[in-house]
Amino acid sequence: MTPSLEVELCGVRLPTPVLAASGCFGFGREMASFLDLAQIGAVVTKSVSLEPRRGRPTPRMAETPSGMLNAIGLQNPGVEAFCREDLPVLGDAGARVVASVVGRSVEEFAQVAGRLARERAVHLIEVNLSCPNVDSRGEVFAADPGMAAMVVRTVKDVARQPLLAKLTADVTDLVAVARAVVDAGADGLTLINTLLGMAVDVRRLRPKLAAVTGGLSGPAIRPIAVRCVWQVARAMPEVPIVGAGGVVTGEDAAELLLAGAVAVQVGTANFITPRATAEVAEGLRAYLESQRLTSVTELPALLKADP
Ligand SMILES: Cc1cc2nc3c(=O)[nH]c(=O)nc-3n(C[C@H](O)[C@H](O)[C@H](O)COP(=O)(O)O)c2cc1C
Repeated sequence: MTPSLEVELCGVRLPTPVLAASGCFGFGREMASFLDLAQIGAVVTKSVSLEPRRGRPTPRMAETPSGMLNAIGLQNPGVEAFCREDLPVLGDAGARVVASVVGRSVEEFAQVAGRLARERAVHLIEVNLSCPNVDSRGEVFAADPGMAAMVVRTVKDVARQPLLAKLTADVTDLVAVARAVVDAGADGLTLINTLLGMAVDVRRLRPKLAAVTGGLSGPAIRPIAVRCVWQVARAMPEVPIVGAGGVVTGEDAAELLLAGAVAVQVGTANFITPRATAEVAEGLRAYLESQRLTSVTELPALLKADP
């Protein structure tokens, strides 16, 4: 029997637990010629703000060992243009849409989520509390449990869709932040966003990114993502977790699911192949078959304590 990949995430049924991560899949339009958007778990859209944003100066990307640094800086067309031009394409393609929301202030988060509440094509909202690439370090809401909780509480008041709070691992006590946002109304958590990093061009004697620092992603961060999922899942076993960080193969996805996630996201791997989300799901199915499992939902309970 072919193993089932179907999962339920905060009340939304997904055909596979493999989602395209925010910022690595655009708004799906360019990817539709490479894969069927209706067949992947869901598309998490690039984070949208109230007004359009132009992003950071170039160079905005740099390769690093087993990963990459980016300082795109939340470039997006703003929520109105997103609803008018991008969302209908995803809806017509039959995709499940997780709209990623970002803001410079608590109020802006609420205004964006309030606008999205009217959109039936949005199945879930991911509150991006953790992007380190914006102009000021002060905007990293996820570094402070109180600020993160305030954003989630305010968004929860206006949102119609279930909320995922996306956190960063760039904190000392991730479980404290996770508890604060769940207490404030988050229905689930996405762990993790990129980690703040820096690379230097030693010949040109300059930072490789115009913004100097940027977000580190790709296989280099996978052990950190696995650790974060495992820590939070152990502390709050009832809260659905979407794991993200360095997933390139089906077995990478299985690692996060065994650590306690109910679904995973694929980010940087989309820059290697635009079919990555579909290929990871196929690889996950092959892994389940090799383990003689009938459903992916069995994985989170299977991790043994000793190595
Ligand atoms: C180029 C790039 C742009 C990103 N933009 C966003 C974004 O707009 N919002 C967000 O929440 N995460 C963003 N991320 C983070 C990813 O969604 C993901 O959490 C992270 O890259 C870890 O997964 P990965 O190792 O599979 O890439 C971005 C990542 C990359 C590489």
